[in-house]
Amino acid sequence: MNKTTLFSDFKCKSLSLDNRIVMAPMTRQFSPNGIPTPDVAGYYKRRAEGGTGLIITEGTTVNDKVATMDANIPRFHGEQALAGWKKVVEEVHKAGGKIMPQLWHVGMARVAEKAPYPELPSAGPSGLFKPGKQGAEPMSVSHIESVIEAFAQAASDAKSIGMDGIEIHGAHGYLIDQFFWEGTNQRDDSWGGSMENRGRFAIEIIKAIRASTDPDFPIILRYSQWKQQDYTARLATTPKELEQFLLPLSDAGVDIFHCSQRRYWENEFEGSELNLAGWTKKITGKPTITVGSVGLSDDFFGAFKGQDSSTRSVDDLLERLDNKEFDLVAVGRALLQDPNWANKIKENRTEELATYSGKALATLS
Ligand SMILES: Cc1cc2nc3c(=O)[nH]c(=O)nc-3n(C[C@H](O)[C@H](O)[C@H](O)COP(=O)(O)O)c2cc1C
Repeated sequence: MNKTTLFSDFKCKSLSLDNRIVMAPMTRQFSPNGIPTPDVAGYYKRRAEGGTGLIITEGTTVNDKVATMDANIPRFHGEQALAGWKKVVEEVHKAGGKIMPQLWHVGMARVAEKAPYPELPSAGPSGLFKPGKQGAEPMSVSHIESVIEAFAQAASDAKSIGMDGIEIHGAHGYLIDQFFWEGTNQRDDSWGGSMENRGRFAIEIIKAIRASTDPDFPIILRYSQWKQQDYTARLATTPKELEQFLLPLSDAGVDIFHCSQRRYWENEFEGSELNLAGWTKKITGKPTITVGSVGLSDDFFGAFKGQDSSTRSVDDLLERLDNKEFDLVAVGRALLQDPNWANKIKENRTEELATYSGKALATLS
Protein backbone atom coordinates (compact mmCIF):
# COMPACT_ATOMS: atom_id res chain seq x y z
CA MET A 1 0.00 0.00 0.00
CA ASN A 2 1.15 3.51 -0.77
CA LYS A 3 0.91 5.51 2.42
CA THR A 4 2.78 8.60 1.31
CA THR A 5 -0.28 10.83 1.22
CA LEU A 6 -1.70 9.47 4.50
CA PHE A 7 1.54 10.39 6.23
CA SER A 8 2.07 13.72 4.53
CA ASP A 9 1.67 17.16 6.15
CA PHE A 10 -1.57 19.07 6.11
CA LYS A 11 -2.03 22.77 6.69
CA CYS A 12 -5.17 24.85 7.09
CA LYS A 13 -4.95 28.35 8.55
CA SER A 14 -3.19 28.07 11.95
CA LEU A 15 -3.42 24.27 11.93
CA SER A 16 -0.42 22.15 10.84
CA LEU A 17 -0.64 18.39 11.01
CA ASP A 18 2.04 15.74 10.54
CA ASN A 19 -0.37 13.30 8.89
CA ARG A 20 -3.93 12.91 7.69
CA ILE A 21 -5.28 10.69 10.48
CA VAL A 22 -7.98 12.26 12.65
CA MET A 23 -9.54 10.73 15.73
CA ALA A 24 -13.32 10.83 15.22
CA PRO A 25 -15.37 12.39 18.04
CA MET A 26 -16.63 9.66 20.36
CA THR A 27 -18.79 10.25 23.42
CA ARG A 28 -17.45 8.26 26.36
CA GLN A 29 -19.30 9.63 29.42
CA PHE A 30 -16.33 9.37 31.76
CA SER A 31 -16.48 12.97 33.04
CA PRO A 32 -18.41 13.10 36.36
CA ASN A 33 -20.47 16.29 36.66
CA GLY A 34 -19.28 17.18 33.18
CA ILE A 35 -15.67 17.70 34.28
CA PRO A 36 -12.94 15.89 32.30
CA THR A 37 -10.66 14.00 34.70
CA PRO A 38 -6.92 13.25 34.44
CA ASP A 39 -7.99 9.84 33.05
CA VAL A 40 -9.63 11.62 30.14
CA ALA A 41 -6.39 13.56 29.55
CA GLY A 42 -4.43 10.30 29.61
CA TYR A 43 -6.85 8.70 27.13
CA TYR A 44 -6.35 11.47 24.55
CA LYS A 45 -2.63 11.72 25.23
CA ARG A 46 -2.20 8.02 24.36
CA ARG A 47 -3.87 8.63 20.96
CA ALA A 48 -1.46 11.52 20.30
CA GLU A 49 1.51 9.36 21.32
CA GLY A 50 0.19 6.65 19.03
CA GLY A 51 0.66 8.89 16.01
CA THR A 52 -2.84 10.36 15.47
CA GLY A 53 -2.43 13.65 13.57
CA LEU A 54 -5.50 15.45 14.94
CA ILE A 55 -7.79 14.52 17.80
CA ILE A 56 -11.39 15.67 17.76
CA THR A 57 -12.74 15.18 21.25
CA GLU A 58 -15.99 13.53 22.19
CA GLY A 59 -18.98 15.86 21.92
CA THR A 60 -18.72 18.45 24.73
CA THR A 61 -21.69 20.64 25.49
CA VAL A 62 -22.10 24.39 25.19
CA ASN A 63 -23.50 26.56 27.97
CA ASP A 64 -27.22 25.92 27.83
CA LYS A 65 -28.98 24.03 30.63
CA VAL A 66 -30.60 21.62 28.18
CA ALA A 67 -27.58 21.08 25.91
CA THR A 68 -26.62 17.77 27.52
CA MET A 69 -28.39 14.46 28.04
CA ASP A 70 -26.16 12.99 30.72
CA ALA A 71 -24.20 14.36 33.68
CA ASN A 72 -21.12 12.32 32.68
CA ILE A 73 -20.80 13.95 29.27
CA PRO A 74 -18.07 16.59 29.53
CA ARG A 75 -19.17 20.22 29.48
CA PHE A 76 -17.31 22.97 27.70
CA HIS A 77 -18.21 25.74 30.12
CA GLY A 78 -17.59 26.55 33.75
CA GLU A 79 -14.21 27.03 35.40
CA GLN A 80 -13.66 23.43 36.50
CA ALA A 81 -14.61 21.84 33.20
CA LEU A 82 -12.42 24.26 31.25
CA ALA A 83 -9.53 23.61 33.64
CA GLY A 84 -9.99 19.89 32.99
CA TRP A 85 -9.92 20.50 29.23
CA LYS A 86 -6.83 22.69 29.56
CA LYS A 87 -5.03 19.74 31.13
CA VAL A 88 -6.17 17.56 28.21
CA VAL A 89 -4.76 20.09 25.73
CA GLU A 90 -1.43 20.27 27.59
CA GLU A 91 -1.03 16.49 27.63
CA VAL A 92 -1.86 16.12 23.94
CA HIS A 93 0.48 18.95 22.96
CA LYS A 94 3.28 17.49 25.09
CA ALA A 95 2.91 14.28 23.11
CA GLY A 96 3.18 16.24 19.84
CA GLY A 97 -0.49 16.03 18.92
CA LYS A 98 -3.19 18.52 17.95
CA ILE A 99 -6.67 18.68 19.42
CA MET A 100 -10.05 20.36 18.94
CA PRO A 101 -13.24 20.01 20.98
CA GLN A 102 -16.43 18.93 19.28
CA LEU A 103 -19.00 21.52 20.42
CA TRP A 104 -22.39 19.99 20.95
CA HIS A 105 -26.02 20.66 21.80
CA VAL A 106 -28.14 17.51 21.76
CA GLY A 107 -31.48 19.28 21.23
CA MET A 108 -34.48 16.96 21.27
CA ALA A 109 -32.28 13.86 21.68
CA ARG A 110 -32.26 14.77 25.38
CA VAL A 111 -34.63 12.74 27.54
CA ALA A 112 -35.48 15.28 30.23
CA GLU A 113 -36.02 12.78 33.06
CA LYS A 114 -32.56 11.30 32.60
CA ALA A 115 -30.71 14.59 32.14
CA PRO A 116 -29.53 17.42 34.39
CA TYR A 117 -32.37 19.91 35.04
CA PRO A 118 -35.09 17.28 34.47
CA GLU A 119 -37.74 19.91 35.14
CA LEU A 120 -36.78 21.78 31.95
CA PRO A 121 -38.16 20.76 28.55
CA SER A 122 -35.69 19.83 25.81
CA ALA A 123 -35.02 22.23 22.95
CA GLY A 124 -35.57 21.85 19.23
CA PRO A 125 -36.61 24.06 16.33
CA SER A 126 -40.13 22.64 16.39
CA GLY A 127 -39.94 20.61 19.60
CA LEU A 128 -39.88 17.42 17.52
CA PHE A 129 -37.46 14.53 18.08
CA LYS A 130 -38.63 13.09 14.77
CA PRO A 131 -41.62 13.63 12.52
CA GLY A 132 -44.72 13.06 14.61
CA LYS A 133 -42.84 12.82 17.93
CA GLN A 134 -43.52 16.09 19.73
CA GLY A 135 -41.59 16.46 22.98
CA ALA A 136 -41.65 20.20 23.67
CA GLU A 137 -42.78 23.58 22.39
CA PRO A 138 -40.74 25.03 19.50
CA MET A 139 -37.64 26.92 20.66
CA SER A 140 -38.15 30.63 21.25
CA VAL A 141 -36.11 33.05 19.18
CA SER A 142 -34.40 34.32 22.33
CA HIS A 143 -33.39 30.75 23.19
CA ILE A 144 -32.04 30.28 19.66
CA GLU A 145 -30.00 33.44 20.05
CA SER A 146 -28.63 32.43 23.44
CA VAL A 147 -27.48 29.05 22.07
CA ILE A 148 -25.70 30.80 19.19
CA GLU A 149 -23.94 32.96 21.79
CA ALA A 150 -23.06 29.84 23.82
CA PHE A 151 -21.31 28.27 20.79
CA ALA A 152 -19.37 31.51 20.25
CA GLN A 153 -18.32 31.63 23.91
CA ALA A 154 -17.23 27.98 23.83
CA ALA A 155 -15.08 28.61 20.75
CA SER A 156 -13.50 31.63 22.36
CA ASP A 157 -12.77 29.57 25.49
CA ALA A 158 -11.33 26.79 23.30
CA LYS A 159 -8.92 29.27 21.81
CA SER A 160 -7.97 30.65 25.25
CA ILE A 161 -7.06 27.21 26.63
CA GLY A 162 -4.92 26.39 23.60
CA MET A 163 -7.21 24.19 21.48
CA ASP A 164 -6.11 24.05 17.83
CA GLY A 165 -9.55 24.91 16.46
CA ILE A 166 -13.10 23.68 17.05
CA GLU A 167 -15.54 21.29 15.43
CA ILE A 168 -19.24 22.15 15.37
CA HIS A 169 -21.43 19.05 15.75
CA GLY A 170 -23.98 19.56 13.00
CA ALA A 171 -24.60 15.85 12.36
CA HIS A 172 -26.59 12.77 13.38
CA GLY A 173 -29.90 14.40 14.26
CA TYR A 174 -28.78 16.58 17.19
CA LEU A 175 -29.80 20.24 17.59
CA ILE A 176 -28.08 21.82 14.58
CA ASP A 177 -29.11 18.90 12.38
CA GLN A 178 -32.66 19.23 13.76
CA PHE A 179 -32.63 22.71 12.21
CA PHE A 180 -31.18 21.37 8.92
CA TRP A 181 -33.65 18.53 8.55
CA GLU A 182 -37.20 19.18 7.31
CA GLY A 183 -38.40 16.25 9.39
CA THR A 184 -37.67 18.11 12.63
CA ASN A 185 -37.78 21.73 11.45
CA GLN A 186 -41.29 22.78 10.59
CA ARG A 187 -40.94 26.42 11.58
CA ASP A 188 -42.52 29.06 9.41
CA ASP A 189 -40.30 31.95 10.51
CA SER A 190 -36.83 32.81 9.17
CA TRP A 191 -35.29 29.76 10.97
CA GLY A 192 -37.30 27.19 9.00
CA GLY A 193 -38.92 26.40 5.68
CA SER A 194 -36.47 26.72 2.78
CA MET A 195 -33.06 25.01 2.75
CA GLU A 196 -31.54 28.45 3.24
CA ASN A 197 -33.66 29.16 6.32
CA ARG A 198 -32.95 25.72 7.80
CA GLY A 199 -29.25 26.44 7.45
CA ARG A 200 -29.51 29.81 9.19
CA PHE A 201 -28.92 28.52 12.72
CA ALA A 202 -25.61 26.90 11.71
CA ILE A 203 -24.64 29.94 9.66
CA GLU A 204 -25.22 32.29 12.59
CA ILE A 205 -23.19 29.96 14.83
CA ILE A 206 -20.31 29.90 12.35
CA LYS A 207 -20.32 33.69 12.02
CA ALA A 208 -20.51 34.19 15.78
CA ILE A 209 -17.61 31.79 16.31
CA ARG A 210 -15.54 33.60 13.73
CA ALA A 211 -16.29 36.93 15.42
CA SER A 212 -15.39 35.58 18.88
CA THR A 213 -12.08 33.99 17.75
CA ASP A 214 -9.95 35.21 14.84
CA PRO A 215 -9.77 34.78 11.05
CA ASP A 216 -7.00 32.19 11.36
CA PHE A 217 -8.75 29.91 13.89
CA PRO A 218 -9.89 26.72 12.11
CA ILE A 219 -13.60 25.92 12.14
CA ILE A 220 -14.68 22.40 11.19
CA LEU A 221 -18.35 21.61 10.55
CA ARG A 222 -19.43 18.00 10.88
CA TYR A 223 -22.62 17.04 9.07
CA SER A 224 -24.34 13.87 7.90
CA GLN A 225 -27.13 12.87 5.60
CA TRP A 226 -28.32 10.12 7.98
CA LYS A 227 -30.05 10.83 11.28
CA GLN A 228 -30.22 8.70 14.43
CA GLN A 229 -33.99 9.17 14.04
CA ASP A 230 -33.96 7.79 10.48
CA TYR A 231 -30.94 6.15 8.89
CA THR A 232 -32.37 6.66 5.42
CA ALA A 233 -33.04 10.41 5.82
CA ARG A 234 -31.12 12.77 3.53
CA LEU A 235 -30.63 16.52 3.54
CA ALA A 236 -29.80 16.50 -0.16
CA THR A 237 -30.88 13.91 -2.72
CA THR A 238 -29.02 15.44 -5.68
CA PRO A 239 -25.66 17.20 -6.16
CA LYS A 240 -27.60 20.41 -6.88
CA GLU A 241 -29.37 20.22 -3.51
CA LEU A 242 -26.10 19.46 -1.79
CA GLU A 243 -24.66 22.57 -3.36
CA GLN A 244 -27.60 24.65 -2.10
CA PHE A 245 -27.03 23.25 1.35
CA LEU A 246 -23.24 23.59 1.48
CA LEU A 247 -22.35 26.84 -0.25
CA PRO A 248 -23.94 29.18 2.30
CA LEU A 249 -22.18 27.27 5.12
CA SER A 250 -18.90 27.47 3.28
CA ASP A 251 -19.37 31.19 2.63
CA ALA A 252 -20.17 31.75 6.32
CA GLY A 253 -16.65 30.61 7.20
CA VAL A 254 -16.33 26.83 7.53
CA ASP A 255 -12.68 25.88 6.92
CA ILE A 256 -13.00 22.10 6.81
CA PHE A 257 -16.10 19.92 6.31
CA HIS A 258 -16.31 16.63 8.20
CA CYS A 259 -18.64 14.40 6.24
CA SER A 260 -20.10 11.61 8.33
CA GLN A 261 -20.95 8.37 6.57
CA ARG A 262 -21.37 4.85 7.86
CA ARG A 263 -18.97 3.47 5.22
CA TYR A 264 -16.53 5.70 3.38
CA TRP A 265 -16.52 3.43 0.32
CA GLU A 266 -20.17 4.12 -0.51
CA ASN A 267 -20.98 6.50 -3.36
CA GLU A 268 -23.16 9.43 -2.40
CA PHE A 269 -25.05 9.83 -5.68
CA GLU A 270 -25.69 7.40 -8.52
CA GLY A 271 -23.41 7.75 -11.49
CA SER A 272 -20.31 8.87 -9.59
CA GLU A 273 -17.78 7.08 -7.41
CA LEU A 274 -17.40 10.08 -5.09
CA ASN A 275 -18.37 9.64 -1.46
CA LEU A 276 -19.93 12.41 0.67
CA ALA A 277 -16.54 13.98 1.47
CA GLY A 278 -15.66 13.79 -2.22
CA TRP A 279 -18.77 15.66 -3.28
CA THR A 280 -18.36 18.19 -0.49
CA LYS A 281 -14.81 18.97 -1.58
CA LYS A 282 -15.85 19.20 -5.22
CA ILE A 283 -18.70 21.60 -4.44
CA THR A 284 -17.06 23.86 -1.86
CA GLY A 285 -13.38 23.63 -2.81
CA LYS A 286 -12.67 23.33 0.94
CA PRO A 287 -10.67 20.49 2.52
CA THR A 288 -12.81 17.59 3.74
CA ILE A 289 -12.60 14.73 6.23
CA THR A 290 -14.06 11.34 5.39
CA VAL A 291 -15.15 8.84 8.06
CA GLY A 292 -16.99 5.57 8.41
CA SER A 293 -15.67 2.06 9.08
CA VAL A 294 -12.02 2.89 8.40
CA GLY A 295 -10.07 -0.32 9.03
CA LEU A 296 -13.25 -2.21 9.93
CA SER A 297 -15.78 -4.28 8.03
CA ASP A 298 -18.96 -3.43 9.97
CA ASP A 299 -20.40 0.01 10.56
CA PHE A 300 -20.70 1.60 13.98
CA PHE A 301 -24.46 1.44 14.50
CA GLY A 302 -24.03 -1.82 16.39
CA ALA A 303 -21.23 -0.35 18.53
CA PHE A 304 -23.55 0.94 21.25
CA LYS A 305 -24.95 -2.57 21.65
CA GLY A 306 -21.39 -3.85 22.08
CA GLN A 307 -21.06 -5.38 18.59
CA ASP A 308 -17.62 -6.51 17.38
CA SER A 309 -16.17 -5.92 13.92
CA SER A 310 -13.39 -7.62 12.01
CA THR A 311 -10.64 -5.64 10.32
CA ARG A 312 -10.71 -4.45 6.71
CA SER A 313 -7.93 -3.31 4.40
CA VAL A 314 -7.42 0.43 3.97
CA ASP A 315 -5.99 0.10 0.45
CA ASP A 316 -9.11 1.54 -1.22
CA LEU A 317 -9.02 4.43 1.24
CA LEU A 318 -5.41 5.23 0.37
CA GLU A 319 -6.29 5.22 -3.29
CA ARG A 320 -9.13 7.70 -2.79
CA LEU A 321 -6.86 9.89 -0.67
CA ASP A 322 -4.19 9.81 -3.38
CA ASN A 323 -6.82 10.84 -5.88
CA LYS A 324 -7.50 13.88 -3.66
CA GLU A 325 -11.14 12.90 -3.24
CA PHE A 326 -10.77 14.18 0.36
CA ASP A 327 -7.91 15.44 2.53
CA LEU A 328 -8.21 13.80 5.92
CA VAL A 329 -9.44 10.49 7.29
CA ALA A 330 -11.25 10.15 10.61
CA VAL A 331 -11.01 6.90 12.55
CA GLY A 332 -13.51 6.01 15.26
CA ARG A 333 -13.72 2.58 16.83
CA ALA A 334 -10.35 1.36 15.60
CA LEU A 335 -8.73 4.20 17.56
CA LEU A 336 -11.04 3.77 20.51
CA GLN A 337 -9.75 0.25 20.91
CA ASP A 338 -6.14 0.80 19.91
CA PRO A 339 -4.35 4.08 20.74
CA ASN A 340 -1.44 3.03 18.49
CA TRP A 341 -3.55 2.44 15.38
CA ALA A 342 -1.86 5.24 13.37
CA ASN A 343 1.68 4.09 14.15
CA LYS A 344 0.78 0.48 13.37
CA ILE A 345 -0.49 1.49 9.94
CA LYS A 346 2.57 3.64 9.37
CA GLU A 347 4.98 0.88 10.36
CA ASN A 348 3.17 -1.86 8.42
CA ARG A 349 2.32 -3.70 11.64
CA THR A 350 -0.99 -4.85 10.16
CA GLU A 351 -0.79 -8.26 11.84
CA GLU A 352 -1.12 -6.37 15.15
CA LEU A 353 -4.42 -4.76 14.14
CA ALA A 354 -7.04 -6.69 16.08
CA THR A 355 -10.73 -7.36 15.54
CA TYR A 356 -12.68 -4.53 17.16
CA SER A 357 -14.27 -5.72 20.38
CA GLY A 358 -17.49 -4.12 21.59
CA LYS A 359 -16.03 -4.44 25.10
CA ALA A 360 -13.65 -1.58 24.30
CA LEU A 361 -16.49 0.80 25.19
CA ALA A 362 -16.43 -0.22 28.84
CA THR A 363 -13.16 1.45 29.77
CA LEU A 364 -11.13 4.54 29.00
CA SER A 365 -7.95 2.63 28.16
C1 LIG B 1 -18.84 5.11 21.18
C2 LIG B 1 -19.10 6.11 20.08
C3 LIG B 1 -19.42 7.41 20.41
C4 LIG B 1 -19.65 8.36 19.41
N1 LIG B 1 -19.88 9.67 19.76
C5 LIG B 1 -19.94 10.62 18.80
C6 LIG B 1 -19.96 12.01 19.14
O1 LIG B 1 -19.89 12.42 20.31
N2 LIG B 1 -20.02 12.91 18.12
C7 LIG B 1 -20.08 12.52 16.80
O2 LIG B 1 -20.15 13.38 15.93
N3 LIG B 1 -20.02 11.21 16.46
C8 LIG B 1 -19.93 10.27 17.42
N4 LIG B 1 -19.77 8.94 17.05
C9 LIG B 1 -19.59 8.60 15.63
C10 LIG B 1 -18.10 8.55 15.28
O3 LIG B 1 -17.52 9.83 15.34
C11 LIG B 1 -17.86 7.98 13.88
O4 LIG B 1 -18.46 8.82 12.92
C12 LIG B 1 -18.40 6.58 13.74
O5 LIG B 1 -18.01 5.76 14.84
C13 LIG B 1 -17.89 5.93 12.44
O6 LIG B 1 -16.51 5.75 12.50
P1 LIG B 1 -15.89 4.27 12.75
O7 LIG B 1 -16.64 3.39 11.81
O8 LIG B 1 -14.44 4.44 12.40
O9 LIG B 1 -16.13 3.89 14.16
C14 LIG B 1 -19.57 7.98 18.05
C15 LIG B 1 -19.27 6.64 17.73
C16 LIG B 1 -19.01 5.72 18.71
C17 LIG B 1 -18.64 4.31 18.33
